[in-house]
Amino acid sequence: MCGIVGYVGRHNAVPVLISGLESLEYRGYDSAGVAVLQNDGIGIRKAKGKVDNLRTLLLNNPVSGKVGIGHTRWATHGAPSDRNAHPHFSNGEVIAVVHNGIIENYQELKDELEAKGYKFESETDTETAANLIYDFYKECNDLLEAVRLTLERIEGSYALGVLCSDCPDQIIAARKESPLIIGIGQGENFIASDIPAILEYTRDAYILDDKELALVKADSIQIFDIEGNEIEKSVYSYKWNVEAAQKSGYDHFMLKEIYEQPKVVKDNLAHRFSEDGKHIELDGIKLGKEQLKNINQIYIVACGTAYYAGLVGKYLLERIVRIPVNSEVASEFRYKDPLIDEHTLVIVVSQSGETADTLSALKLAKDRGARVLAIVNAVGSSIAREADDVLYTLAGFEIAVASTKAFSAQVTAMYLITLHIAQELGKISDEDFAEIKTALDKLPSQINDILTKAVPAIRKFVNKYIGSKNVFYIGRGLDYVVGMEGSLKLKEIAYLHSEPYAAGELKHGPIALIEEATLVVGVVTQESLFDKTKSNIKEVKARGAKVLAIAMKGNSSIEEVADDVIYIPRTHWMLTSILANIPQQLFAYYMALGLGEDIDKPRNLAKSVTVE
Ligand code: AGP
Repeated sequence: MCGIVGYVGRHNAVPVLISGLESLEYRGYDSAGVAVLQNDGIGIRKAKGKVDNLRTLLLNNPVSGKVGIGHTRWATHGAPSDRNAHPHFSNGEVIAVVHNGIIENYQELKDELEAKGYKFESETDTETAANLIYDFYKECNDLLEAVRLTLERIEGSYALGVLCSDCPDQIIAARKESPLIIGIGQGENFIASDIPAILEYTRDAYILDDKELALVKADSIQIFDIEGNEIEKSVYSYKWNVEAAQKSGYDHFMLKEIYEQPKVVKDNLAHRFSEDGKHIELDGIKLGKEQLKNINQIYIVACGTAYYAGLVGKYLLERIVRIPVNSEVASEFRYKDPLIDEHTLVIVVSQSGETADTLSALKLAKDRGARVLAIVNAVGSSIAREADDVLYTLAGFEIAVASTKAFSAQVTAMYLITLHIAQELGKISDEDFAEIKTALDKLPSQINDILTKAVPAIRKFVNKYIGSKNVFYIGRGLDYVVGMEGSLKLKEIAYLHSEPYAAGELKHGPIALIEEATLVVGVVTQESLFDKTKSNIKEVKARGAKVLAIAMKGNSSIEEVADDVIYIPRTHWMLTSILANIPQQLFAYYMALGLGEDIDKPRNLAKSVTVE
């Protein structure tokens, strides 16, 4: 996905646009650009690479004006390049457009426009929108109407910011499936993909819904539906603060967010139990006995790290609640014609609340009558607004592309939902509930314990094995799932090929890949499976592997087979996933640091993938 920002007011737009784009780089950083209305028309400056490159370009070749739009890109159509960077001009440099999304029928529209004599500079779908708006504008001489008519032709997703050289006092914005908010200032107004871009100026915004447009001027904001009718919207006031969006002294957002996890888990547990601590209270979620008695299966659907958090939920719900639970990646779920109906509970998990595949999976589930519960971090996001119930994960901004604290928050949400459903269906005794509650209350301090003690051992292990080219993560049950998340982290930020594998399955082929000094992370926190996984570690050791084991304190016999061991504090078998993942996060972080990679903005990635 991409980041969009716009400004209209009494100051030079460029500094506002650049700082906004820097706050949005987690959405993509293949290229960046700005378009500004100047006395002699629209000035555009854009450059391949991060916003820093654009900043340098502007030093040598400035533009300035009081109305402008900016864009930071995650490439979909056309490779990252100056030419494909947004903003895009129409012919005649009358219209300038920034866009987040995919215009699925852009080739058909482009052919039509080329037949009319339009010329194209780039390989992007967005340039088609710029020329189509211009084509309508020449007919109706009304920018808002020209954009509206264009949107009626476009198939696909968009968040758009549009300038016109004839309309020096306004920005037109529009949204369908890609997020866009209209920031409300004093004598100035903004558009943005997400609140971090404009938080230093305002916390108040209108959240555009699908197929809505906005006419934004310095002293007015008008919002319209796709038919052109003006509509009223309520103001949303964000609770974020600027400090939360900064690094607070950490070298990277990822490290800051790793160290925020004790508080995040504590916040997610707070106020979610009854006064006497004997019942779960889930923020007004309507999933009581009445709703649950009609449910005969559960689907958990998500992408990436959120999918792994959901998988933890699958294991726990099946073990404790004894309901069939299917866990699917959203991009598979939505095309497999899933067997769901009004007796299915679909739980979607998403940090950003904007992941296109997860949002589409949610809509498919609702279309088939399923009840949808969303576990979401971003307040007011598309997924949060579409779901029947929302459990917010209260993790605050997660800026680093590699998700850490959101995973812990999502898994905590899974713990709460499992306990809630188990209680509602009478599947858990008061004693077992109390035992788990006691263990949950210790989690924040136990996370902190690992964070303060494990780093030296992890850094030593990283230094020993930093040259590794292939890494395996092996485990059984919940440990296997945790290894999936650990493996993804290493791929994402250290660019090391790694593979999670069910420890008991390795011998059915993949063990052929184990050779001298192959690095294996063995997750062995599940004590009921300890001996089995320990013997699997012996198997890989016998073939030359080097093993870093993650085990629960008290299981020191693991030292007989592992080269290095990171111990996590003892906890209930159900709750080991968050604790076991902390060393994995740190391992990936220090490996990437040692390799000199860009930890917060890893190549090819974006924080939320709002395109399919
Ligand atoms: C995780 O580190 C990645 N950034 C990615 O897998 C992410 O979890 C996935 O894209 C889902 O994003 P979401 O939680 O915002 O839906």
